[in-house]
Amino acid sequence: MATHYDVIIIGAGPAGYVTAIRCAQLGLKTACIDAWTNEEGKASLGGTCLNVGCIPSKALLESSALYTQAQNDFEAHGISISTPSIDVTTMQSRKQDVVKKLTGGIAQFMKANKVAVIHGKARILDGKQVIALDLESGIIKETLVGNHIVIATGSSPVELPGFKFDHKKILDSADTLALDSIPERLVIVGAGVIGLELGSVWARLGTEVTILEAQDSLLPMVDAQLVREAARQFKQQGLNIILGAKVSSCKTTRNGITVDYELKGETISIKADKLSVMVGRCANIDGLLAPDCGVETTLQHKIVVNEYCQTNIKGIWAIGDVVRGPMLAHKGSEEGVLVAEAIASGKPLSLDLSNVPSVIYTHPEIAWIGQTEAELKEQGTDYASGSFPFAASGRAQASGHTGGMIKILSDKKTDRILGAHMIGEHVSELLAEVIFAKQYQASAEDLGRTIHSHPSLSEALKEAALNVHKEAIHKMN
Ligand code: FAD
Ligand code: NAI
Repeated sequence: MATHYDVIIIGAGPAGYVTAIRCAQLGLKTACIDAWTNEEGKASLGGTCLNVGCIPSKALLESSALYTQAQNDFEAHGISISTPSIDVTTMQSRKQDVVKKLTGGIAQFMKANKVAVIHGKARILDGKQVIALDLESGIIKETLVGNHIVIATGSSPVELPGFKFDHKKILDSADTLALDSIPERLVIVGAGVIGLELGSVWARLGTEVTILEAQDSLLPMVDAQLVREAARQFKQQGLNIILGAKVSSCKTTRNGITVDYELKGETISIKADKLSVMVGRCANIDGLLAPDCGVETTLQHKIVVNEYCQTNIKGIWAIGDVVRGPMLAHKGSEEGVLVAEAIASGKPLSLDLSNVPSVIYTHPEIAWIGQTEAELKEQGTDYASGSFPFAASGRAQASGHTGGMIKILSDKKTDRILGAHMIGEHVSELLAEVIFAKQYQASAEDLGRTIHSHPSLSEALKEAALNVHKEAIHKMN
């Protein structure tokens, strides 16, 4: 017999679990079905983000950054230590501890909010019925029926033809996060966000990293000035990024792997211990939709939704990586909150995708929101730009991290903030202030007139905003 719920959520990644908690807070009887199984064979909530994405990658970025700091930065402070070494087993078990703490925390929040959590693979049938299948046997564990269904099944790594993941020498992002020793040579396909973050981790630990990128430009979605600075610093860090490189085939050998790629009409072979393919992610809909459930999908297997995250079937919603828009954890979570509130109130709510911030957690960090100068030029928008280098910030000088800058773009007529672009230390945190300012339609002048603590990196943000009108104090314009 089917158990009835107000809302059934499929997927407990950052989109799904947040929806479940918000629905429960709003008094809705809520179930959440999730298929994630960790390396111990146990359910582990939090989806890609907590298990093999945002969190473990940041744990490794932190460990590897500390290692390079110990190697390169301590001496200038008068600190001497014997030559630092890194124990990969300890680094990896710290990462897993962080993952366990956080995924366990989600399970506790679900319990505290009385969300019924089911470990299994969900399939949506006609009439808003959902079956949860046992992951091993495929037998139906439970049948549920909901007034509303929220699809939050996320995404998985794209596999390139001819580069089938064997998880030993041809790796996906999860394998690359889980390496138990430092490879001598690693070839990465794709200089996107994952390629750069994970390439940084292993390069910092001593791996010779080559990144093969098919496009002729690096990070085309990022402000061009920031990309130039980032490319310079990546090169210094030993990341060998080859643009315009189209991989054609690979062959595993006893000791490693050989990869062939085309560059300017020439075929080049490169040898490595491991090959990581990180060329984007595809939506998870495999086995999810019974033919008669009627939910519409795109050719790219994304679930089709309108601005309110409603599918073509009334009462079935979809959010997060499985729908259009940036594949980012915070975007999915925010959609989840809005969908929960829309279900509870009966009033549809939409997320303004132009206010979704982005961060690349390399060194230096790159963070941005809104439009780039190139986009504004293309649209013919009349804008003003103000920038400020960290080298002129007292706090940056005191900490010794003086690389990078902040750029604010505002509408020439209204002064309303249109974009902010930052590269440097801690810019992932500095961006928060502009996200708030932009969301509430503040002007560059509002930001420039706000008092910022001294000495702080946030003063550079204030100065960049002041400099939209050429009024920065610590800058020779
Ligand atoms: P997911 O997190 O993918 O969760 C979907 C869940 O649904 C999974 O648990 C899956 O098992 C389950 N599921 C799928 N199908 C079914 C089914 N039929 N039945 C039951 N359950 C099902 N984003 C950021 O914002 N910041 C970052 O720093 C960042 N770093 C990343 C680093 C890496 C290495 C990777 C791979 C990704 C990173 N991302 C980052 C992207 C981020 O992880 C995703 O955008 C986010 O996890 C998407 O959330 P989601 O809830 O839509 O899907
Ligand atoms: P991506 O879309 O960022 O980058 C993929 C790169 O691979 C692109 O530069 C593309 O041109 C290149 N590429 C594609 N096919 C290729 C080929 N055949 N040969 C060579 N290069 C090829 O995708 P990525 O890095 O896999 O990340 C997936 C998603 O996860 C992104 O949408 C990203 O937003 C999210 N993510 C976010 C992070 C963050 O917020 N800090 C961190 C990591 C991932």
